Amino acid sequence: MRLIEATGATIASQADAINSAELVVVAVARRFYDALPLALLQNKVLVDVSNRDDAVRRRSVLSNAEYLQELVPSARVVKAFNVLSAYLLETGGIQGSKEVPLATDSESARAKVVQTVRDLGFTPVDMGPLRQARHIEDIPLHFFRQWRGAFIVVAVIFLVGYVLNFIKFQLCHNLTKNETWDWSVFKQILMTNFNRNLGVVALTILGAVYMAGIIAAFLQLYRGTKYARFPAWLDRWLRMRKQLGLLMLAMAATHGCMSLGIYHPHHQYDWLFEPPKTVRAEVKVNGTFEVQTVDIWQHHPNWRGEVFLTLGAVTLCLLSILGISSLPSVTDRLTWREFSFIQSKLGWTALVAGFLHNLVLGWDYMLTAYDCYFPTGLQYALYLPLLCFIGKLILLVPPVNRRLVNIRSGLISRPVSQA
Ligand SMILES: Cc1cc2nc3c(=O)[nH]c(=O)nc-3n(C[C@H](O)[C@H](O)[C@H](O)COP(=O)(O)OP(=O)(O)OC[C@H]3O[C@@H](n4cnc5c(N)ncnc54)[C@H](O)[C@@H]3O)c2cc1C
Ligand SMILES: NC(=O)c1ccc[n+]([C@@H]2O[C@H](COP(=O)([O-])OP(=O)(O)OC[C@H]3O[C@@H](n4cnc5c(N)ncnc54)[C@H](OP(=O)(O)O)[C@@H]3O)[C@@H](O)[C@H]2O)c1
Ligand code: HEM
Repeated sequence: MRLIEATGATIASQADAINSAELVVVAVARRFYDALPLALLQNKVLVDVSNRDDAVRRRSVLSNAEYLQELVPSARVVKAFNVLSAYLLETGGIQGSKEVPLATDSESARAKVVQTVRDLGFTPVDMGPLRQARHIEDIPLHFFRQWRGAFIVVAVIFLVGYVLNFIKFQLCHNLTKNETWDWSVFKQILMTNFNRNLGVVALTILGAVYMAGIIAAFLQLYRGTKYARFPAWLDRWLRMRKQLGLLMLAMAATHGCMSLGIYHPHHQYDWLFEPPKTVRAEVKVNGTFEVQTVDIWQHHPNWRGEVFLTLGAVTLCLLSILGISSLPSVTDRLTWREFSFIQSKLGWTALVAGFLHNLVLGWDYMLTAYDCYFPTGLQYALYLPLLCFIGKLILLVPPVNRRLVNIRSGLISRPVSQA
């Protein structure tokens, strides 16, 4: 009774309720559709909100909404609202997306449901004819579908980097530099190796994000048209860039936080700090005093240290702007020009800053340290960004750039069949 008073609803029989309704929401599972009062539902606008599981999907290609349309041929069935959670609607919680995809074959029913979706505070997304309900019903079944490819790429690169770091810092150092086997370096597997690998993988993935655009540009130059389809692998790579970018941002941010804890003159970075003051002092060792020479470390970075750290922070700051701009609520408020300025220009600046951050850190042994015949993370983190810079510089050469701009604006277009 309290609910009735609060909502202003009236109590009616099922038949009366259906007869007086302009729009009927069918909120029962598909297996119960046969039990619905089908005769009463003829000529009504029926909103099918149902979802299906993988088992139903395998048994029939028809969507639930198309099946309902077959059962009630004179009704105007609209697929909508299945992507919203009833629980969250009831409790006023925030859901992932405010978009409500809908599909129907009736224009008058579409207009009615679009208005209802708007009245409820959601954004209607018209997907076209009722056949599209097949895709709409698949949406709640997705589980990070857009992210899977990017996640696998990042995971594989991370794993390979980790193994290479292990060979380099734990095995190789012991085999080539230490006279006796030093087990203490194995504790670095957790923090030091992990953090280094985060930095290396982040920079490599950032390179991969911008490499895709470079390859696409060279292909367009070679083909002389923008109208030919890219090969499937490049198309997937281009479409994966947002996910790759956001995963690399997560790694770069973690690396930045961890590094601030590790960055200390005692911890291998003596070349980034002002030189220590050396004093002769009486020190207590195992209860007895002895005179020793002691290095008192300065906690002020030197010029190189300042530049290195600032470059890391600038890179992270720029990447954060890219990450924020990719939030749908922010993207919606940016013009295309603003969005591509952030994503393209600021992203390239981040790549340059990240590259320099790494270069300044490893300058001394960038070209020389090939212990055990292979490079360290510091070195191979530079390969992909370096290739990007070479590619970009070629694309910026005026005649090349002019031709690319002309191709991309459609001014030059060799027929696709010749491309
Ligand atoms: C943290 C982070 C977040 C990210 N978020 C997003 C995101 O939300 N969305 C996203 O898409 N990417 C995202 N990315 C990936 C990346 O930043 C963008 O894909 C970026 O636009 C790539 O820049 P680019 O210069 O390589 O672009 P390119 O694809 O090389 O394009 C360069 C210029 O050429 C134009 N152009 C390209 N192809 C054509 C064509 N066929 N016809 C006509 N003109 C063309 C473009 O409009 C652009 O002006 C993100 C990356 C990171 C690191
Ligand atoms: N819950 C959600 O968040 C959500 C979100 C999107 C889509 N959906 C879809 O909405 C539909 C209903 O889901 P629900 O969560 O509301 O399920 P529910 O709470 O179990 O409701 C089921 C409804 O079906 C009716 N029903 C049960 N057995 C029936 C039968 N044998 N014959 C006729 N009607 C019968 C019930 O009527 P009585 O009240 O008379 O028992 C009830 O109204 C499903 O297709 C679901 O996929 C649900
Ligand atoms: C606030 C931000 C940052 C700080 C404080 C920081 C700090 C550091 C420190 C201390 C190291 C040395 C790690 C070691 O040798 O153990 C390092 C290395 C590195 N950093 Fe950063 N960094 C930051 C951001 C970034 C970002 C955003 C990137 C990538 C885009 C990056 C890429 C790298 C790479 C590739 C290395 C070399 C790893 C190696 O030694 O193998 N850093 N950084």
